[in-house]
Amino acid sequence: MAFGTSWWVLMGLLGVCCEATKPVDTMCTELITNRSYSCEGLELTKIPDQLPSMTEVLDFSFNFLYSLHLSTFSKLKELVFLDLTRCQINWVYEDAFENNSHLESIILIGNHLLFIGDTAFAGPLSLKHLDLTQTGLTSLRLIPMQDLGSLETLILGNNHIQSLKLPPSFKTRNLKYLDFHMNNIQKISANDVMLFKKFSNLTLILKGNDIVHIDPGAFRSISFYSLDVTGCANIPVILKGLEGSQSVALKLGTFLDSDVLPISPTTLQSIGNVSVDHLTLQYRNFLNLSCETFKWLIKLKTLDLTHTSLSEIPLGHHRIDMLKELNLNNNKFVHLCDIRPSVFPTVTHLYIRGNSKELDLGAGCLESLSNLQYLDLSNSQIEDLDCCRKQFSALSTLQHVNMSYNKKLLFHSTAFNSSAHLQDLDLAFTHIDTTNASEGPFGNLRFLQTLNLSFSQIGPNIQHILQGLESLRVLNLKGNNFESGTILTEHLFQQVYNLEVLILSHCKLLAIETKAFSILRKLQHVDVSHNDLITFNSGAFFNLRNIYLNFANNRIHIIPRDMLANLSGQSIINLSYNPLECTCSNTGLLTWYKQNIDKIEGFEETVCSEPKPLAGTKLLFVNLSCGYSTAKVILITFVVITVIAVTFILIIRFLQRKYQHI
Ligand SMILES: *[C@@H]1O[C@H](CO)[C@@H](O)[C@H](O)[C@H]1NC(C)=O
Ligand SMILES: *[C@@H]1O[C@H](CO)[C@@H](O)[C@H](O)[C@H]1NC(C)=O
Ligand SMILES: *[C@@H]1O[C@H](CO)[C@@H](O)[C@H](O)[C@H]1NC(C)=O
Ligand SMILES: *[C@@H]1O[C@H](CO)[C@@H](O)[C@H](O)[C@H]1NC(C)=O
Ligand SMILES: *[C@@H]1O[C@H](CO)[C@@H](O)[C@H](O)[C@H]1NC(C)=O
Ligand SMILES: *[C@@H]1O[C@H](CO)[C@@H](O)[C@H](O)[C@H]1NC(C)=O
Ligand SMILES: *[C@@H]1O[C@H](CO)[C@@H](O)[C@H](O)[C@H]1NC(C)=O
Ligand SMILES: *[C@@H]1O[C@H](CO)[C@@H](O)[C@H](O)[C@H]1NC(C)=O
Ligand SMILES: *[C@@H]1O[C@H](CO)[C@@H](O)[C@H](O)[C@H]1NC(C)=O
Ligand SMILES: *[C@@H]1O[C@H](CO)[C@@H](O)[C@H](O)[C@H]1NC(C)=O
Ligand SMILES: *[C@@H]1O[C@H](CO)[C@@H](O)[C@H](O)[C@H]1NC(C)=O
Ligand SMILES: *[C@@H]1O[C@H](CO)[C@@H](O)[C@H](O)[C@H]1NC(C)=O
Repeated sequence: MAFGTSWWVLMGLLGVCCEATKPVDTMCTELITNRSYSCEGLELTKIPDQLPSMTEVLDFSFNFLYSLHLSTFSKLKELVFLDLTRCQINWVYEDAFENNSHLESIILIGNHLLFIGDTAFAGPLSLKHLDLTQTGLTSLRLIPMQDLGSLETLILGNNHIQSLKLPPSFKTRNLKYLDFHMNNIQKISANDVMLFKKFSNLTLILKGNDIVHIDPGAFRSISFYSLDVTGCANIPVILKGLEGSQSVALKLGTFLDSDVLPISPTTLQSIGNVSVDHLTLQYRNFLNLSCETFKWLIKLKTLDLTHTSLSEIPLGHHRIDMLKELNLNNNKFVHLCDIRPSVFPTVTHLYIRGNSKELDLGAGCLESLSNLQYLDLSNSQIEDLDCCRKQFSALSTLQHVNMSYNKKLLFHSTAFNSSAHLQDLDLAFTHIDTTNASEGPFGNLRFLQTLNLSFSQIGPNIQHILQGLESLRVLNLKGNNFESGTILTEHLFQQVYNLEVLILSHCKLLAIETKAFSILRKLQHVDVSHNDLITFNSGAFFNLRNIYLNFANNRIHIIPRDMLANLSGQSIINLSYNPLECTCSNTGLLTWYKQNIDKIEGFEETVCSEPKPLAGTKLLFVNLSCGYSTAKVILITFVVITVIAVTFILIIRFLQRKYQHI
């Protein structure tokens, strides 16, 4: 499809002229020797000659190429991936990639393409990914399709395309991802999408197109992996068009603040004739919400109602019996019972994150969810002074609970008495109070593996909380203050002897007692960064053969060599941001450091603070001469010999004088 006017040709020649005038003065960054280079944003006007012919990956985005022709990339015969984002390319001439037979990905984002030669993509033997986002395309007919037989991904977002119709010359059967987001597609006829039948498992993105008409049943017998029609105003039209089609995931949501029709009780009616597993309705609103609204959704496996301004789910006699996952994030429920769990009794995963009202947990609201495994109630302003026996009663299959970023939770004895199989409990950034629990609040959670108590203000009650957690592997105590500033006794962690990961950063710790962790024989990862520690005490850890120790951001000046000598094998330490001394009193650290650089994390930030002339120097580059130099040894030997000789002479003289009188 040549725009054969002489004006275009003239402009093309001008483009080529400009190309010759700018010198190649800046060098590209080598990411992998001879294979991968980035020349991003270097104001280059041609491919630098210095690039080796073996280059496979080239990021040439944000430069000035104006046009692509036969010789542009001819030297780079091994090219596999080529990024030409925003290079002001207007012309892609015939055979532009002739000698790039291995090329698999071409990215042309943000180039206003006026001309693409008929054989522009003829060189590559199996071009898989072509990104033509924001290239000013008005029709698919402008893309020469005959050489795209291996294409898997075609991205055409932000253009002015009006029809989905693929030209008959489009031969590929491998297409997996076809993206038309933000185009001008308003009408879709059965004829337009006929060719889609030969693809299986296709992801089709029609997000942000103002679709007003689809022939009913146009997509019949087409099988999608995912179909994204986010932002399309008229849901009934879309569902009618999709009758008889299959999609694993269907995205019918919209955008924040978009002005689309709300979902009325009949809107979703036709979904019964579409095969869908996962449905997204993000940012839609509901009108006259009733149990009729959701009665069409009985075959869904997952339903995403994020940001739909819901304050209740209406109760009716219809149950969504196959639903496994329900997402109710960012809504405005007041009471947990308002989500009406009996409507979806089979869910295993329930998300009520970021609720905009203070959520009241009530009592027994979730009782009917006998299969619930995963419960996310984070960031929902929850305050509960007797959590969570009644609230989570009968939830015997619960494994993961996320109640982070809430207001305040008071736990009494065995707070999760019904959920003995809990594995993962996240209480970060929620004020936790256990003072009224006579026994350990989590004492029955014998299978708990991960407990996040970061910034939860538990401080002194920690010992109480850890009671009975014999399977615990990961414990996060970041941002809690321990009264005395020390991890006092070995008794503290006595019950959690299987711990592998322990995070104690930002805890205002002043010292770690040698016996503190002696019981924790499986410890592999310890983070005590951002404290006020003045010593590095490796004796506190049982296994130093394979451990990660983060002591960064403390107040350590000197580390004796014997504290380091036992660190071996795969061990890693991070000592960055400590006021380390680079003087002869710290030779133990300085010599060990140079011999064990493979065990150091963050050596760029591990610098001297003393003495002043060396302040800021990386520890690795410090050369100290401590002890006695050869010159000093000779001098001292000389002095000693002289002293001995003089003494000897004096004694002889003394004796001579004494015996002269005789
Ligand atoms: C890179 O290419 C040069 C010249 O072809 C060759 O001498 C060198 O060994 C190559 N380096 C690697 C790491 O392949
Ligand atoms: C492409 O490669 C062939 C053979 O290697 C060579 O003859 C031809 O000149 C090359 N084309 C360009 C434009 O460099
Ligand atoms: C379908 O496509 C999706 C995403 O492209 C992929 O994750 C999935 O494995 C594919 N399924 C089959 C059966 O090929
Ligand atoms: C499903 O399609 C059949 C015929 O194709 C039609 O009679 C029926 O009303 C449709 N159901 C819905 C819910 O649209
Ligand atoms: C919504 O309900 C009101 C009265 O309850 C009714 O007048 C109106 O027609 C309903 N709207 C729709 C779209 O069903
Ligand atoms: C819990 O939720 C918070 C915020 O919603 C998130 O950052 C965190 O990763 C979640 N925790 C787990 C264990 O998934
Ligand atoms: C847990 O505690 C609640 C409230 O005290 C009680 O009703 C329930 O029977 C207890 N469940 C188990 C399994 O002990
Ligand atoms: C904690 O226990 C004390 C004494 O038993 C009682 O006065 C107080 O109200 C309890 N606090 C809460 C929040 O239950
Ligand atoms: C709590 O810690 C766990 C494990 O380290 C982590 O997966 C989770 O994201 C943390 N939660 C928050 C809110 O940061
Ligand atoms: C290092 O290991 C030896 C022998 O295993 C032990 O005697 C010594 O106390 C250890 N030093 C430290 C600081 O742990
Ligand atoms: C060393 O630890 C500090 C504090 O946790 C962290 O900020 C830094 O990124 C770490 N260094 C590296 C290289 O991971
Ligand atoms: C220490 O010696 C090395 C090489 O012997 C040198 O590169 C480095 O600059 C020296 N460091 C200082 C601080 O003089």
